[in-house]
Amino acid sequence: MAGLILGIETSCDETAAALVREGREILSSVVASQIPIHSRYGGVVPELASREHLRNILPVVRSALEEAGVGYADLAAIAVTEGPGLAGALLVGISFAKSLAFAAEKPLIAVNHLEGHIHAVLLEEARRTAGSRGDAEPQPGSPVLLALVVSGGHTHLYLAEARGTDAGGPAWWYRNVGRTVDDAAGEAFDKVAKLLGLGYPGGPWIDALAPHGNPEAVPFTFAQIKAKAHRRGEPGALDPAAATYFSYSGIKTAVLRYTHVHEMESSIEARRAALSAVSEARPPDALALCDRRTLDLIASFQRSVVDDLRRKTFRAAEHFGADRVLVSGGVAANRELRVRFTAEAAERNLPIAFPSLSLSTDNAAMIAAAAWPKLAAGEFAPEGLTADPSLALGGKLR
Ligand code: KG4
Ligand code: ZN
Repeated sequence: MAGLILGIETSCDETAAALVREGREILSSVVASQIPIHSRYGGVVPELASREHLRNILPVVRSALEEAGVGYADLAAIAVTEGPGLAGALLVGISFAKSLAFAAEKPLIAVNHLEGHIHAVLLEEARRTAGSRGDAEPQPGSPVLLALVVSGGHTHLYLAEARGTDAGGPAWWYRNVGRTVDDAAGEAFDKVAKLLGLGYPGGPWIDALAPHGNPEAVPFTFAQIKAKAHRRGEPGALDPAAATYFSYSGIKTAVLRYTHVHEMESSIEARRAALSAVSEARPPDALALCDRRTLDLIASFQRSVVDDLRRKTFRAAEHFGADRVLVSGGVAANRELRVRFTAEAAERNLPIAFPSLSLSTDNAAMIAAAAWPKLAAGEFAPEGLTADPSLALGGKLR
């Protein structure tokens, strides 16, 4: 089948495989989540993640092929996440993809996980414009977009633009214009949920409980992070004065301090114990276990993080004259974030796009979609491809 790519993603705690045609048509997208394995630890345990990927990779790839009704012979290429992510976890996907590419005599394409998140949005846009040439086939001179990639491991801003290669083929160009100096936004959701005795991962729990509290009850403030002299960029890199810096470790500490000041420890422990007694507890189970003060704290935390992300993203969009905004990654599933970003975009008359919920969190369809322009450009992985846990996209912003 022309343009059919098998994508493989194992950078963190989801083993995923997908079949995507020409960067726009998803034939199958299978995700084996390890949430039940890691939830009792309140975070991803790298050693366990690698072991689970090893156990899951073959069945996941097989069911992606079966669901799509295709075989190895139908593939135009195999794409795999090269980084960033957990080294051991990435290596499972890379070793598997390399062996498969060798055995099936198919080209192998390495994809940056962050580029994948951006393509989760572009993939769906391309699908909507199927028939005409979509964004999966970038056109030189197309609009500059500002992408916020916000997940458990990342809070990055990228300028992205479809440009042609020297050889005349299609290619995406990226520049990193923002990053977190400490915790990622999703990490803050996870840590705050954990310290309040809620489930893992924390984002969906906070998302579900926040509408029941007063978002203005607890005033959190964010330090304005200025470019420091030591953050001088590499030659040709972005002037750090124009960069955006996020920071989410302070708000986690502020939430912890608030629980101490208001002596919430025993009610938190009671909630933790009650939820652990429920088999497969879900966010609605927590509502009856949260008092007003806790719900107000949750709502205020979420509002503060969402507003900080929103203010900084739109300030950067204005600074760089972006034509539109994309938000992707696990935190892009947050309902308040979608509502508040959409409202601000409308006020500014700036188009904004999010992936559907299943493509917001980690998946392999986004990896196969990001590989499509690379296949067209003949950009294949070197024989010695290995995991790059701290792989950057669009230059390293210091
Ligand atoms: O993109 P993703 O699946 O994996 C990473 O690359 O990190 O993102 C997972 C992160 C977790 O921190 C999770 O708590 C957060 O996304 N998340 C959310 C929501 N759903 C997932 N955060 C806020 N609201 C949500 N609805
Ligand atoms: Zn991710």
